[in-house]
Amino acid sequence: MSDRISLARIKRVLKRTFGSRRRFALEGVDAKPEDNSAPPAKTAGTRLGLLEARTDFLQDEVSQLRSLLRHLAGDRIQDWPIVRATRDSFDYQWRNLPEGEAMPSNPAWKAEVGKTIGRYSGLPAEWFAGKKVMDAGCGLGRWTYGFGTLGVGSCVSFDISEGGVARSREIAAPFGPSFTVLRRNVLEDLGLPADFDLVWCFGVLHHTGDTYRGLQNLIRCVKPGGYLFLMIYGEPRPGHIEDYAYYHEMFSMRKALRNLPFEEKVRRLEAAYGKDKLHGYFDAISPDINDLYRWDELESWLRAAGFEKEFFHFFFQPKKVYPDTYGHTFQLHHHIFLLIS
Ligand SMILES: C[S@@+](CC[C@H](N)C(=O)[O-])C[C@H]1O[C@@H](n2cnc3c(N)ncnc32)[C@H](O)[C@@H]1O
Repeated sequence: MSDRISLARIKRVLKRTFGSRRRFALEGVDAKPEDNSAPPAKTAGTRLGLLEARTDFLQDEVSQLRSLLRHLAGDRIQDWPIVRATRDSFDYQWRNLPEGEAMPSNPAWKAEVGKTIGRYSGLPAEWFAGKKVMDAGCGLGRWTYGFGTLGVGSCVSFDISEGGVARSREIAAPFGPSFTVLRRNVLEDLGLPADFDLVWCFGVLHHTGDTYRGLQNLIRCVKPGGYLFLMIYGEPRPGHIEDYAYYHEMFSMRKALRNLPFEEKVRRLEAAYGKDKLHGYFDAISPDINDLYRWDELESWLRAAGFEKEFFHFFFQPKKVYPDTYGHTFQLHHHIFLLIS
């Protein structure tokens, strides 16, 4: 991890270049995205202004190219090592690391999962009674369990990981035969009817290498008037230095650990972050594919698919703040939203 830039170093460089942190903040780097679309007036015409303008331009270009490339590459990369390695990583995770802070192994998390579903989706607890729900890419079934506690009428859960499917079957068993767990690839025909009241897909599509195709397969299953819930990684927010630092840190760690056996990744991550945070870090660092999306691109797909009556979208900023390795704290930026067809 020698190539990781510490936040302290970034700050030192910024301070050397631009003066105090405060002045730097005033110059717009910490500004809200909407304030940051043009170079801040104070830096216009300066070297900083030029650098900012060039960086913004390059970021826009990369984002557009990446979007295009994903459409071109989506089905071609499916038998590539990055896709296999990503799937294997999750399978290893569900078989060997089922415990974590945000997992049913944590009694506090388990007790609150129904409320968490309500908070994330904005749907009141009463709405779920008797509903037909899908948990797409269910992992070990933590949300499936939550739907059980909310009293849904039936739940179809699926995942590509055999380890995940086995764990989800265990967790779903107490809710009876109306809860089924299947092994499915979200990128293939799911063979499921188009009558789900809610299709829930938390943190899955951005790991598949073909988010667009996976989304189309899920959309087909939402009944008219039904809901689609997605959590998808978002690009860093312009103006939020902590988002850039976070993704850079993740990238550096992924690079450093990438070619190690899973057991060795586990050993190092546990040594660095402790047992409680091991699951979360393994989940964030070990999978190879972690695509980031702009909201406007996702929105264009969803609108094209007819999700336009009601839109509910917010940036996922969990109350829990993840400590980073610099000893600072930050909040993750992900897109999380509920849509009605
Ligand atoms: C970050 S985990 C999220 C699991 C679960 N939704 C949760 O929030 O606990 C991503 C999940 O997506 C699954 N997955 C990845 N690619 C998939 C695919 N092509 N089809 C179905 N599931 C897939 C993985 O096996 C893994 O369980």
